[in-house]
Amino acid sequence: MTIKLNQPLKPDLITLTKYLSEVNNSGWYTNFGPLHDQLTSRLEEYLGVKNLLLVSNGTLALQVACKVLNINSAITTPFSFVATTSSLLWQGIDTAFSDIDPQTYNLCPTALDDALNEPESNYDGVVATHVYGNPCDVNGIADVANKHSIKTVYDAAHAFGVSIGEQSVLNFGDASTLSFHATKVFHTVEGGAIVFKHRKDYEKAKRLINFGIQADGSLGEPGINAKLNEYQCAVGLTLLDDIEQVIARRAELFRSYRDELKEYVEMPTWHIDTTLNGAYMPIYIADVDSQRKVIEALSKNGIESRRYFTPSLDAVFGEQKKFDCVQSQRVAGGVICLPLHGYMNLNGIKNITQIIKETIK
Ligand SMILES: Cc1ncc(COP(=O)(O)O)c(C=O)c1O
Repeated sequence: MTIKLNQPLKPDLITLTKYLSEVNNSGWYTNFGPLHDQLTSRLEEYLGVKNLLLVSNGTLALQVACKVLNINSAITTPFSFVATTSSLLWQGIDTAFSDIDPQTYNLCPTALDDALNEPESNYDGVVATHVYGNPCDVNGIADVANKHSIKTVYDAAHAFGVSIGEQSVLNFGDASTLSFHATKVFHTVEGGAIVFKHRKDYEKAKRLINFGIQADGSLGEPGINAKLNEYQCAVGLTLLDDIEQVIARRAELFRSYRDELKEYVEMPTWHIDTTLNGAYMPIYIADVDSQRKVIEALSKNGIESRRYFTPSLDAVFGEQKKFDCVQSQRVAGGVICLPLHGYMNLNGIKNITQIIKETIK
């Protein structure tokens, strides 16, 4: 039997068909249709946010957010999925890397401050990822961003449904971006969203993702097409019905993993005041030989794992400026993600952790 690293949520076909019939009956397939508006309101309510704009994927979400906020140069984290950096580079943003915190694997505010204090440093923004759904030190980053008068974008692709205290993690910074790719905690097959702090930024983004067409139909600013269509919104609306149970289950699996493995491997430290969404299950094994043995032992038992995220992105985009990225390189050298998705159960976690324990001992 194979245990997959991830398994996309399957929408209930009866509910989905009901929504798709509505689309066929109305003949409104895209361009901010009724299901788009329903999904927007339901997500805003569920997530506890305002100014949420649906877009066609999480990569365009980052690009549009930076465009709207006039970010032409940015410091970002080297420890993230490649899209966090490649989206900025594709957008023509002058991008530099500063290091992560060795415990949380998220962008380190002190390293960011040091980078911004360098004599030649002149950046408009910071783009930080809540890696694995673990919130960044949002207060530390806000202090640095305020001190240097730069904008903050959070790549929250992994952080759907996560709160810090009572507050959605999406309510920090000038904008937060989400990915609704099929592998994410919540999805629309492909898709995403941007949550803006200010209504005027949301309104500008809504024009820009529709070719830059103004409310009165006039043209002027160059836009792009990044709209989410009605069929994909139907998937989102269907999956949203059960999202609370899905997240609760994933969080339970995550807690069980961490409990079983705490004496055996290193793991990133989670934010002290956060809710869990169980998006990923990362472990860290410094010794290359033990790392290889664990991956092989899991694979022999039909269990998928992935060295996610490696390599450190400052090594991938070597021509970009980097401040010290020693911690990111160290972490990228030893991190492994274990299977975690809504179709697993606690027995699966027992099996996987038993294999790791036996291999490591
Ligand atoms: C951290 C991060 N940022 C951005 C993206 C890009 O999202 P999408 O695949 O929806 O374009 C992903 C996707 O996996 C991601 O993990």
